[in-house]
Amino acid sequence: MNFFVTMVRKIRDEGFLIIPRLFCKNLVYAVRNWRDAEFDRRHGVCTSGFLELNKALVSSKNRDFGVRYQPTSARHFECMMSRLDVDLRDYTFVDFGCGKGRVLLMAAHYPFAGIIGVEFSRVLYQQALDNVAHYGLGHPEFPHVQVKWTDAAEFSLPDTPLVLYFFDPFRGQVMAQVLDNIRASFVRLPRPIHLIYYAPVHAQMVEALGIFRRLSDLPLPFDPAVPRQYECAWFETLARSS
Ligand SMILES: C[S@@+](CC[C@H](N)C(=O)[O-])C[C@H]1O[C@@H](n2cnc3c(N)ncnc32)[C@H](O)[C@@H]1O
Repeated sequence: MNFFVTMVRKIRDEGFLIIPRLFCKNLVYAVRNWRDAEFDRRHGVCTSGFLELNKALVSSKNRDFGVRYQPTSARHFECMMSRLDVDLRDYTFVDFGCGKGRVLLMAAHYPFAGIIGVEFSRVLYQQALDNVAHYGLGHPEFPHVQVKWTDAAEFSLPDTPLVLYFFDPFRGQVMAQVLDNIRASFVRLPRPIHLIYYAPVHAQMVEALGIFRRLSDLPLPFDPAVPRQYECAWFETLARSS
């Protein structure tokens, strides 16, 4: 009923052309979602779709700085991994704001020493655990993956070389706090750290830390499964802490 009333109002205000326009918009949306869900269909998991961080989903005081759940494009992630020209067996991979865990599942196909996902929404954390467990069944070689239900601002980094992954998970003071923690960890124990920042809203904050140099941005292939063609900024620690 509501839909019918809304449509009548729209036609009255904008004319009949609104009908093909809305049809095309919804078609694009449906195709994009269908493409994005390909990963789930192939692996029998549930990682696709958007979720706003409302009160039911997150109770943390940092909720207002968090960005809604949206998974990384599988195509883009593969492209990012192809740039890592180091011995991954020495490295721990950390996904800050891992959501339903798609990135953890994809990272598990690379020989990382460990893989950690950090998520502050209990619902998303639970879904990530289910996905990891389910995915592990079909992949006996699956390495050790940990999912932690905690705020990224309170997460302590392991003392190994690191690949840190951010898909625009949080903004403002939370990003600043997380970056401060990374700097403190590096100053205490200088080691190789690669920071991959997909949709790099706060790239300047990373540069301003003084421990990273920014490499050229990684060109990503066109992917019809994502709503916008995001950029990917890439950082590596300088040889010594500053
Ligand atoms: C854009 S999604 C990225 C999901 C996942 N990293 C991926 O690429 O598929 C951002 C995620 O960050 C989480 N998040 C936001 N603020 C957070 C915080 N302070 N601590 C932990 N997780 C947070 C959100 O709940 C959401 O799942």
